[in-house]
Amino acid sequence: MNIVIFGGSGFIGTAVCKELIQRKHTVTSISRHGQPDTLTDEWARNVHWLHSDILNDTKWQTAVKEADWVIDAIGILKEDPAKNNTYDRFIVEPIKRIAAFLSQQTVPAKCLFLSANNAPFPFQRYMQAKREAEKLLNNQTFPHTIIYPSLVMDQQRPTSVLGGKMILFFKKIPVVNMLLKKYAPITRQNLANEIANVVEGQNSLLTQRRG
Ligand SMILES: NC(=O)c1ccc[n+]([C@@H]2O[C@H](COP(=O)([O-])OP(=O)(O)OC[C@H]3O[C@@H](n4cnc5c(N)ncnc54)[C@H](OP(=O)(O)O)[C@@H]3O)[C@@H](O)[C@H]2O)c1
Repeated sequence: MNIVIFGGSGFIGTAVCKELIQRKHTVTSISRHGQPDTLTDEWARNVHWLHSDILNDTKWQTAVKEADWVIDAIGILKEDPAKNNTYDRFIVEPIKRIAAFLSQQTVPAKCLFLSANNAPFPFQRYMQAKREAEKLLNNQTFPHTIIYPSLVMDQQRPTSVLGGKMILFFKKIPVVNMLLKKYAPITRQNLANEIANVVEGQNSLLTQRRG
């Protein structure tokens, strides 16, 4: 299949690109800076790395027009309004633009949006933006799927491993286990597998909000 991934150069995006390439799909990553300098692995040579800023240009549209699937893996965890890095711009606006473009197509690509299962109280506004993006997508007529990961762990982000291990430790306590269910971490590789499975038409527990 021909798969376009917005944010294919990011933490989750690179793992998804790698998994899809290994499954022999055609993969285009769209991001402002293109291929990360640090990514020199063999598989990365098979990804089409397109430089495009969804908030400021339309270079991405040709790739999306030809795609079977479009994955939105753009997002920020922390806002910085002084730099105009807001949840509205980096969570809601990209999916709004993708949805507007797809709804104009005669045969639109299927769309997969990376939301979040849940986040603790300090990230309430982050979750509000995710829910707004989900609502926007659920009002569309083209086929779409929402994936709800919680904390994604990988050595590439040591803090994610630390956070994930703490959650897993406290989950061993019976009552706390119930409270932490919605934050249960997932490894980056498992998430990439689940996303690739969904694209290939399989079911995934991650397409429902949990806990
Ligand atoms: N990491 C987690 O634990 C976790 C958990 C649950 C959900 N999620 C969600 O998963 C998604 C990906 O997270 P992540 O941790 O992989 O984020 P990340 O590492 O920050 O990656 C974000 C990606 O988006 C691209 N991007 C940002 N602005 C863009 C723009 N205007 N136009 C085109 N591309 C743009 C970035 O590349 P450039 O900077 O080069 O443009 C990068 O490739 C987010 O929506 C996040 O909320 C993450």
